[in-house]
Amino acid sequence: MAVIYDRKNEIIQINTKNTSYVMAVRDGYLVHLYYGALLGEGDHSYFFRTQGRAAFSPRMETGEGFSLDDIPFEYPCWGRGDMRSPALEIKNSDGSRIVDLNYVNCEVTAGKPMPKGLPAVYCEDDSEAETLTVTLADKVSGIEVKLFYTVFADTDIITRRAEITNGGSAKCNILKAASACIDFDHMEFDVISNHGTHCRERNIERFPLARGEYKMASRRGASGHVHNPFMIIASHDTTEDNGDCYGTVLVYSGDFASEIAGNQYQTARHIVGLNPDGFDWPLEAGETFVTPEAALTYSALGFTKLSHNYHELFARRLCRGKFRDVRRPVLLNSWEACYFGFDADRLVKIGECSADLGIELLVIDDGWFGVRNSDNCSLGDWTINPKKFPNGLEGVYKPLKEKGIDLGIWFEPEMISPDSDLYRAHPDWCIHIENRPRSQGRWQLILDLTRKEVRDYLYESIAAILRTGMISYVKWDFNRNMTEIGSPVLGAEHQGEVTHRYYLGLYELLERLVTDFPDVLFESCSGGGGRFDAGLLYYMPQVWTSDNSDAIERLKIQHGTSLVYPMSAMSAHVSASPNHQTGHVTPFMTRFTVAFTGSYGYELDPTALSEEEQELVKKTVALYKQYGGMMNSGKYYRLAGPYDVDYCAWCTVSEDKSLCVAGYVLTHVRMYGNNRRVRLKGLDENATYRDALTGDIYTGSQLMGFGVHCPETLEYTSHMWILEKI
Ligand code: DGJ
Repeated sequence: MAVIYDRKNEIIQINTKNTSYVMAVRDGYLVHLYYGALLGEGDHSYFFRTQGRAAFSPRMETGEGFSLDDIPFEYPCWGRGDMRSPALEIKNSDGSRIVDLNYVNCEVTAGKPMPKGLPAVYCEDDSEAETLTVTLADKVSGIEVKLFYTVFADTDIITRRAEITNGGSAKCNILKAASACIDFDHMEFDVISNHGTHCRERNIERFPLARGEYKMASRRGASGHVHNPFMIIASHDTTEDNGDCYGTVLVYSGDFASEIAGNQYQTARHIVGLNPDGFDWPLEAGETFVTPEAALTYSALGFTKLSHNYHELFARRLCRGKFRDVRRPVLLNSWEACYFGFDADRLVKIGECSADLGIELLVIDDGWFGVRNSDNCSLGDWTINPKKFPNGLEGVYKPLKEKGIDLGIWFEPEMISPDSDLYRAHPDWCIHIENRPRSQGRWQLILDLTRKEVRDYLYESIAAILRTGMISYVKWDFNRNMTEIGSPVLGAEHQGEVTHRYYLGLYELLERLVTDFPDVLFESCSGGGGRFDAGLLYYMPQVWTSDNSDAIERLKIQHGTSLVYPMSAMSAHVSASPNHQTGHVTPFMTRFTVAFTGSYGYELDPTALSEEEQELVKKTVALYKQYGGMMNSGKYYRLAGPYDVDYCAWCTVSEDKSLCVAGYVLTHVRMYGNNRRVRLKGLDENATYRDALTGDIYTGSQLMGFGVHCPETLEYTSHMWILEKI
């Protein structure tokens, strides 16, 4: 049993395979006692320590009770004595901000109730998970909060979320509603997070927690390129293979906040959820608000185990659909091949050449619709441009089908160009505030997805193309962030709901599309990785990782992304050299070695390649088809770099340890080099492996103990090992 309720001591213990999470009821409050390595059953009462500390913080009524400012809470509120950051903040009908939540009861059920209208981790069978629901209530206002804890015991993950119901008789407003809080009884931690910008997403930052409130957040109307909705909290000495670390990932694509604070008594509070900035959700009597879900994990074995916990759960129980468990098609995307400069003839030539090289799918990127020849018009007019496609989509689809290559297409559905037929017909369909200028980003505005008629228009526009049966892949782009956030049709009282309602609308639209077109593979994109989040993975199992396709820059981007997200979710393509973003000149095999770690493809014009390069494409496509399937289920190990040393190394090992693909890139040459070797991980130490590329033979213990020699040649050169058990 994953959830143990010790009624006598009022203690609730949640166990996964390797971890325990313990809470208790004390003086009517739900307090947090422990999160860490697995505990046996027993009376954990002594974990609760009140030191009577109340420096200026009032105590409970009598003046002698404990101070709420000194208690570790499961779902803290503000107004009654806990002066740290709250998980819940409500404006009551009388204008006051107080909420005082007391424990009511708890129940345990098999399986997992899904949050209505939101993406979430799921189970396929009730036996896979168990859910604890704890109910808390404020006796005065009637506010009731249900906290859901679902235990995925095998992957050491606990998901958390809250449902807030207005059980009073008058309207109140939710100003902050977090998904989860973890109160730690010390603050000896490092914080690890992703930071970045467009073309430099998800680099890793690690710093020691100090006193004060630190917040990683987005106010961009999207999870964004700048921070990612996850945080890792680790002991100072935690490494890839050793030490404590905790992770929280928000399953959401809009504005989020992941806070951590070192407090006055050397304790720490971590809160994750919707960003309260700009958020104001009126809740009428009887109504319920559902927060997004957060996925929590703990590893005593360092970051690698933490990543594996997330990879396994997200790849298998967050991603859905027929592409979830299979090798994704090897594709060629037209963007860096020809940008806006294509017509049907050129696409057919590129597609036919791609087919000859073994590529399985040609993606027609931006520029096929309306009158779009540059990025300043036509978003919203999702009809084929007859000048570029005189025989419609069929003019490209048919000849390519004969060559055995499928067709994919790009949309940026959430956007509208002011220069479009759609905008001329519906200038009020965009997010805007009356009488204020509408800021454009890349010459475009954002459609108001809180409106049903807008969502229906988008569904019909996309479905019309997909119903032709000619499209087997959709790239779903999103190329600006939100400003002047408003939806006049909602009314003045409801403007604080707009961003969240936008995402509820987007999720509804995506749900309709993925349900009605189950054979289409959807890939999300936001100028590359501007919405690489667990929310969108529920609908689209892969993401264009970054608009920076340079293999050297991708080392950092993919390394950072791998902290939480599975490799199969990362689209990684071989692009032209010199690279279009950075100008780096890299050998073809380096570009291949780096791209091989994700869902694989090409971002170049194959007709412009030399014969020798075309042969390399053929060879690498064949290698990916033979060995790339395990990107989906294999375990990924970060072996070295790319931040602290002059190289980067990694490997992926299949579930049964019979295959390992390892990569190494030299990022900086030093005179006279050194005898560098990299030790692999995750192999069968008793097995013998043959390198399919060189024929070299190694034992598993040699590969993990001594390692492999790394070539010290020219900057940006690489090496790949494909090790098969013999
Ligand atoms: C941004 C994407 O990340 C690119 O791959 C490409 O699709 C462009 N948009 C097209 O406008």
